[in-house]
Amino acid sequence: MPHMTWPNLLMNTTNKDLKDVIDSVKAYIELDRASGISEFFVDQKNSDGVKLTACGLKPTSNDLKSLQREVSNCKRCSLHKTRRNIVFGSGNPEAELMFVGEAPGEDEDRQGLPFVGRAGQLLTKIIEAMGLKRSDVYIANILKCRPPNNRPPLPAEIEECEDVLKRQIDIIKPKVICTLGKFASQTLLRTETSISALRGNFKEYNAILLMPTFHPAYLLRNPNDKKLVWADMKKIMKELKIVYK
Ligand code: URA
Repeated sequence: MPHMTWPNLLMNTTNKDLKDVIDSVKAYIELDRASGISEFFVDQKNSDGVKLTACGLKPTSNDLKSLQREVSNCKRCSLHKTRRNIVFGSGNPEAELMFVGEAPGEDEDRQGLPFVGRAGQLLTKIIEAMGLKRSDVYIANILKCRPPNNRPPLPAEIEECEDVLKRQIDIIKPKVICTLGKFASQTLLRTETSISALRGNFKEYNAILLMPTFHPAYLLRNPNDKKLVWADMKKIMKELKIVYK
């Protein structure tokens, strides 16, 4: 058979043949996807702004790398216009403990990594005081893009972005989530209770234990409250059977 380009092949093909070809390609893609291959995403979206696969199916990224790739060009809210980098999250994809903050600040936006500025350095110290490394835990934020001038996230931005965090949690399946500060705690717990009242007691988020605590940026301004955060971390360590050395 002479070599045929795609247009030639299609011109010599009946509608029924074409349908058969499309069905086989779809079956192939489904087979690939069932075995975890997700390289066939294209930059095409449905009316909800969800990126679709080459055959127009909703994506089912079942690992963090695929999910990160899927959202790598996200334009669901206006923060894409001012961000330098999407701050997806970092750490151990199989972490038992996941920290969730508010949104990237300037340093995070520049580096594309969560909690790398001054508050992040304090978070790293807290993690190390627990006898862990940053690479043992997973760190993410409610919003993946920096709000201009670090203003608080808007409800519409949370609505657009929260799905990514939910999917990260579904993939990681941590045993404990530690929400850092009022914003992350109130968002995940769907409450308006103050962080002072929430912190220190385990709650549940989709059957996962959730410990609200103060944000490290708050601790930089109120160092006397570090002891309260340490008390919260000790409860997490007890739950996860982390032995303090
Ligand atoms: N504050 C946050 O809530 N998240 C970061 O990643 C950095 C600072």
